[in-house]
Amino acid sequence: MPVLGKYPTSGFRVDAAGPPKAGISAGAVLLINIKQLLTLRSSSGGARRGAELNELGIIRDGAVLSVGGKIVSVGNTSDALRDPWVRENRRKITEFPCEGKVVVPGFVDAHTHPVFMDARLIDFEKRVSGASYEEIAESGGGIRSSLKGVRRATRNQLAQRVLATLEEMGAQGTTTVEAKSGYGLTIEAELKSLEAIREAACRWPGTVVPTLLGAHVVPPEFLARSHSYVDAVCKEMIPLAAKRNLAAFVDVFTERGAFSLKETETILRVAAHHCLATRVHVCQLAKCNLQPILKYHPASLDHLDYVEDGDVAAIAKLDTVATLVPASNYFLATGHFPPARKLIDAGVPVALATDYNPGTSPTTSMPFVLSLACTQMKMSAAEAIVAATMNGACSLRLGNRKGSLEPGKDADIAVFEVADYREIPYWVAANRCSTTILNGIPRTE
Ligand code: NIG
Ligand code: FE
Repeated sequence: MPVLGKYPTSGFRVDAAGPPKAGISAGAVLLINIKQLLTLRSSSGGARRGAELNELGIIRDGAVLSVGGKIVSVGNTSDALRDPWVRENRRKITEFPCEGKVVVPGFVDAHTHPVFMDARLIDFEKRVSGASYEEIAESGGGIRSSLKGVRRATRNQLAQRVLATLEEMGAQGTTTVEAKSGYGLTIEAELKSLEAIREAACRWPGTVVPTLLGAHVVPPEFLARSHSYVDAVCKEMIPLAAKRNLAAFVDVFTERGAFSLKETETILRVAAHHCLATRVHVCQLAKCNLQPILKYHPASLDHLDYVEDGDVAAIAKLDTVATLVPASNYFLATGHFPPARKLIDAGVPVALATDYNPGTSPTTSMPFVLSLACTQMKMSAAEAIVAATMNGACSLRLGNRKGSLEPGKDADIAVFEVADYREIPYWVAANRCSTTILNGIPRTE
């Protein structure tokens, strides 16, 4: 049997989504005769920048073998079928013939808000009639209008919603999901949201990385006393989420109408004190000076629609990943998209994510996000795929386990019913994913 590679642990508490999945176990899985196998293997490791974003490591007539949830070999089909362990155990292996198909690492959706109860149709109609995000929020819609549903719901009801979302994502090639709280905004409702994420994560074979977004907006009962709410986030929510191992990251929505730079700094400092890594929603609606935030080395800066040139150069010097979420730009229909080319050309590692949420991005589809990245942000199909896999993994500090198909990594694999990888972003709003393998567990349409 081929020898397992090394897969060092990340050093971060990214496994906070709970114990290994009860009742689900991964056997041996072999994919063969793959027309284009995109391994994304690289000698450099880590997040991909500049020209590295185009390196797909394609193998033709490829094969991938995974055993017990880990990839053990990646190569061509004839070598895989000659392997003595494969020959001896062939009857026990679940085999997927992939003639004419494309196989990629499972998508890593590194920015989602799945813990909510209801669609926001009034906001949707207002937007269609021309209202802006801020106008909708000021008139009682937006994030605050999702609070009631989450506060009233039981943990189990929320978990069911999250699980349904994870399943929908898995059916479209996503194998790792970052999931934020942020629609409860009381200590109790935020912890309940994180528990719901954990409960859903235990029932889904993929990987879920939970994030506390208690600082999404100031809830109505704290209006005009945002400092007291920030106090509650810092003195209660973060310590409790950390103590109960319910979150791997802390996020803040830094924007006018949400939290100031000063408040953001306070929250980032407290998160670091509790050994939680950080990611920040920034420059979504307006320019903002990122220097004070960069001091805290967030794992990811998200949105960055209005990032300034000086800050782009500063981000390029760090390990911070820029997670772009163009489906929210599409849905808000502002006609403005994040400056992906500028970021890539400056050497910033760019990731792509859905930003799945009820207000600005009600989509679970990473292929749709890839399509937007190509058509609206002028990324190549190769750059979009690397951004949606390896760089998403790095933004979650999981680059050593996820994001490429290499021996020793988690067996997170997506099979697409297309003959060329460029068709993944090309077929707009279609789902060509036929099989997803999540931690070695196959799910087929
Ligand atoms: O990423 N910007 C803040 N959070 C979400 C929107 C949330 C909402 O409108 O419900 C976002 O776009
Ligand atoms: Fe978001």
